[in-house]
Amino acid sequence: MVGIVGNVSRPSKTRTLVSAIVEALSERTGYATACFDIIDAQPELGASLYRGKTPGPLSEILTAIETSGFLVVGSPTYKASYTGLLKHLFDLLDMKSLKDRPVIVCATGKAVAHGPKVEQHFRMLFEFFDARIAPQFIFALDEDFTEDGRPSEALLQRIQEQVSNAGKIGLL
Ligand SMILES: Cc1cc2nc3c(=O)[nH]c(=O)nc-3n(C[C@H](O)[C@H](O)[C@H](O)COP(=O)(O)O)c2cc1C
Repeated sequence: MVGIVGNVSRPSKTRTLVSAIVEALSERTGYATACFDIIDAQPELGASLYRGKTPGPLSEILTAIETSGFLVVGSPTYKASYTGLLKHLFDLLDMKSLKDRPVIVCATGKAVAHGPKVEQHFRMLFEFFDARIAPQFIFALDEDFTEDGRPSEALLQRIQEQVSNAGKIGLL
């Protein structure tokens, strides 16, 4: 169970969201988990044009994605989509590497109206890969986090519903 966070700064609400979803999935399934922030693959990520030539930390993230049994991918909303560097990370993967992979997608942002837009971008990306995308998408706003940066009770509830729904349709 691998979480990928398309964050380019820290601290990151998106990291908190992805970690909470991965944790909820792990509690339900008992699967081992790992979470990666793309900021840790910089500057190599931006400088790498081919999968074969990737250095240490970037290679670790790509291998984790390729060998995962379940992916949770989240991004801060930038310009009504996921971050450009997150797209670049997935551009480095072979087009067949995520076939039939169960994927949960989520994002954080400030504009409610951008939730469906970033969701659409994510769906197009994972449909390209022929992955199995969970129907429920979580878009978390600033008010979904407590002042000390933890997920609110309401957000945790939405995460539980998302995980439960993924189980009901056989994604887990
Ligand atoms: C360069 C930039 C572009 C952004 N564009 C959008 C946007 O189009 N829509 C939106 O709702 N929020 C936008 N935001 C706000 C972030 O998505 C939001 O603050 C997010 O929760 C940050 O996540 P993080 O804490 O993981 O970095 C933007 C922020 C930055 C820095």
